[in-house]
Amino acid sequence: MQEATPDTVSGDFSGVEHAYYGVVSTFIRRDGDFFVRTDGPDGELADYRIAYTFGIEPLQQYLIEFPDGRLQALSVCWDTRPEQLGGQRWFHLYPKKQVGHDDPLHWTGLQQNWNFMCAECHSTHLQKNYDASADRYTTTWSEIDVSCEARHGPGSRHVAWAETAGSDEPEASTGNLGFAVTLKDSDNGFWAIDPGTGVASRSVPRTLLDRARDLRDVGELESALTYARLLGDLAPRDVQVQALIREL
Ligand code: HEC
Repeated sequence: MQEATPDTVSGDFSGVEHAYYGVVSTFIRRDGDFFVRTDGPDGELADYRIAYTFGIEPLQQYLIEFPDGRLQALSVCWDTRPEQLGGQRWFHLYPKKQVGHDDPLHWTGLQQNWNFMCAECHSTHLQKNYDASADRYTTTWSEIDVSCEARHGPGSRHVAWAETAGSDEPEASTGNLGFAVTLKDSDNGFWAIDPGTGVASRSVPRTLLDRARDLRDVGELESALTYARLLGDLAPRDVQVQALIREL
């Protein structure tokens, strides 16, 4: 997630149009800002300023901020792949199903609400801060994206390890060089919750695709993908796994 600026926005906002079941969305620039003209909660066309970008590749989504603190993820997304691979175009996330303005899947609906549906996985130290009596959000984060420390634990522990490394202190006592996980972990293992016991256990080494099939849970699968990316073993099977996520 990044603030929408000319440096972070990949999509074509030069006035291009995208048609979806009779709703024509137009992507425009105005006074240095990025806008979409599209159907709002009442189904009427209106101009909405893009507050944030969401994602880099293979697609970029756009978040629009409402006065009650809600950020909503637009369903028309930019395909960031090169033109030769069919990218560099606007597309709708639900091409085969007409999602109207009164559908919970509409971009203004609950299912596309960033505060509730997306934020926790995509920013660091996220506080939703939902005020039920006023039905408002004042969501905060300490880092706008997923920071290194969100995954690897406090860097200060690594510094502490480094400071003692030259001394007589035995290295083993500080574990993984002070990090929460060892960065040399490259045997394709992963942790999965046993639905019966609720306890996580580590897999025997398997290919990513086999793991993906076994998990059958989008959240778990996405976590496994991030982990695989960290280990650098994702690339060859990426397309198959993305297809599997869509299938689930
Ligand atoms: C359970 C955690 C989780 C939730 C909830 C979640 N995401 Fe994600 N999302 C991920 C992970 C992990 C990836 C990285 C997957 C990958 O790179 O293949 C990702 C990737 C993405 C990407 C592609 C980004 C890129 O540059 O690779 C987009 C766009 C995205 N998510 C949008 C959303 C939106 C919109 C929502 C809410 C409607 C959402 N996500 C909810 C975990 C989550």
